[in-house]
Parts: sequence; C-alpha cells; structure tokens
Amino acid sequence: MSDVSQNSAANLAETGEVTLSAPCKVNLTLDIFPPRPDGYHDLDSVVAKFDYPADIVKVSVRPGPSRILLLCKDKSLPRDERNLAVRAAQIYREAFPMSSENTLYIRLEKRLPQQAGLGGGSSDAAAVLRAMQTLFGAASEDKLREVAAGIGSDVPLFLVDGMVRMQGRGEQVTPLSGELPQQPVLHGILVKPDVGVPTPAAYAALDSLAGRQPGEATARMREVLHQGTGVEEIAEAMGNDFEPVILPRYPEIAAAHRAVREAGALRALLCGSGASVFGLARDREHARELARQLAGKFPFVKIATSSE
Ligand code: C5P
Repeated sequence: MSDVSQNSAANLAETGEVTLSAPCKVNLTLDIFPPRPDGYHDLDSVVAKFDYPADIVKVSVRPGPSRILLLCKDKSLPRDERNLAVRAAQIYREAFPMSSENTLYIRLEKRLPQQAGLGGGSSDAAAVLRAMQTLFGAASEDKLREVAAGIGSDVPLFLVDGMVRMQGRGEQVTPLSGELPQQPVLHGILVKPDVGVPTPAAYAALDSLAGRQPGEATARMREVLHQGTGVEEIAEAMGNDFEPVILPRYPEIAAAHRAVREAGALRALLCGSGASVFGLARDREHARELARQLAGKFPFVKIATSSE
C-alpha cells in the first residue's frame, strides 16, 4: 500500500482521522463466462492495482447522532447510500453494531473518474472498510471480505494488496505476490473520453452475442507472470472480453483505444467494462512520452504506476 495508508495509524493518533489512498485497478485480463442463474457472471481476471491515480479517503468519528456524512467537493457524487463509500460504512455498522452513538465523517478527494472501469467507487468503499477496521477493529478478515462482496463485486479485490487473481463474480480474490518470482511494476497511461459505460448494460451487450466463447487470457497471463518475463510478453497476454462489444458501441472509446495505440503504447486495453483505456508502457519514461502525446486530446489523461 502507499505511504498514505501506512501512515494511517500515526495519523489517527495525531488527528483522530484515518487517511487512506484508494488506488484504481486495471483488469490486465478479463475472461467472462455465461450468465449464472442469479444474473451475475463468473469471471477469471488478473487485476493490477495502481497507486497513482488514486482517490484519497479520510474517515473520522465523533460523539453525536448516529449518522454518516459524506463530504466531497465533487457535487455530482451522490451523498447517500447510492455512493459505495457511504454504503460501506452503513453495512459495516449494521454488521458490527457500535455500543455508543457516533457520527461518522467521510471526506472524499475524488480523482478517479466515474463509470470508467477503474473501480474508483469500489476502491473508496474498500478504503472506508479498512478505515472502519482501524477505528473500531470489529471484523475478522474473512468477515470483512464477506461484507465487501455484499457492497459490490469489485470491492473485495481492493482489500488485498498488489496484483490479484479474481474469480467467481469477484468475491474470490487470490494475491499473486506470493506465487510470483517477482511482481512486475507496470507503467502506463489511462485515458478516458467523455462518456461513461453503465456496467449492467455492458454485461447485457455481451450476453446478446450468440455463441460467444469466454476468452482464455488469464491462463496465458498467469504463465507469463510465473515465468517472470518482460513487459512485452505481458502486453501480448493482455485481453478483455468486453472489447469486442464495447468498442463498436462507443465510438469515443474506440477513438481513445486507437489514439493510445497510435501514440506507441505496447498495448491498448479497455479497462473493465469501460469507459477508460489503459496503454501499457515499457517504463516510466515511455509512459511520460505517451502522456505528452495524448494530453489535451481527452478529458482524462493520467500516467499510471502500479502498486509494488
Ligand atoms: O456487483 P455489482 O453491483 O458491482 O454489479 C453491478 C452489475 O454488474 C450487476 O448487477 C450485474 O448486472 C453485473 N455483473 C455481472 N457479473 C459480475 C459482476 C457484475 O453480471 N461478475
């Protein structure tokens, strides 16, 4: 985790506030299986977390009426339980009732775009859960993961540091750090055009394709990572089942995908169900070069550096 989260204990002692960095994620692979009877889809995915760009989440608690207040400069964000950060605090409180009345303040510095496929809302929720654990320490790790899965499919992966394999509908998360010779640090670029993709619509579009076969990118990627080979091999192994349905439906995203390729990224890949595109770079300097070329062409262009 980043310095911000490592400092959270010291932070709490000094200010009564827990400050956490909420990283974004990129599904380096995303194999999606046919819909289950409950409507969800089983997935197989290798997910990298990126410490930058990230949201900042600050949580503090004071004696007072039992309520949760979300403070955020971005007025487009809902302040009630439609916001996953608020939902996380609510569910934690329900699962682990507090002995005394208190007011919880969540301050959100929003830097990750919404409906971008970067897991920003899910990461905020996971950060709130971690903060609640620091403040109240009520949950076991297993229970915390169960609570996380109840908030959203992408929340549990943010409770585990580093690169992970995600299965089931998202609730089965295996850290890859222990099994890899070394976890690669990835550099790249994130670009988001001025559109958002609602996740349920993306899954529905996928299901409308007759005879579609799930991809097999995750098995290839795991092999490449286990061999500890270079970033070019990682680029080749990347794959996202959403690309063939989302790119033709959203010309703005297809344009971003093309622009990232033409700028010279080793590989352009749709992030989750969109609307962002990730461009993998050879190294930090290459990522800077991509950013220089793409700056100003899209509303969101950021260099991304993966967590160690
Ligand atoms: O779990 P979450 O609320 O994030 O999921 C949002 C929607 O995305 C679900 O209602 C479902 O339509 C779709 N989804 C899915 N399979 C998954 C994850 C999400 O079909 N594994």
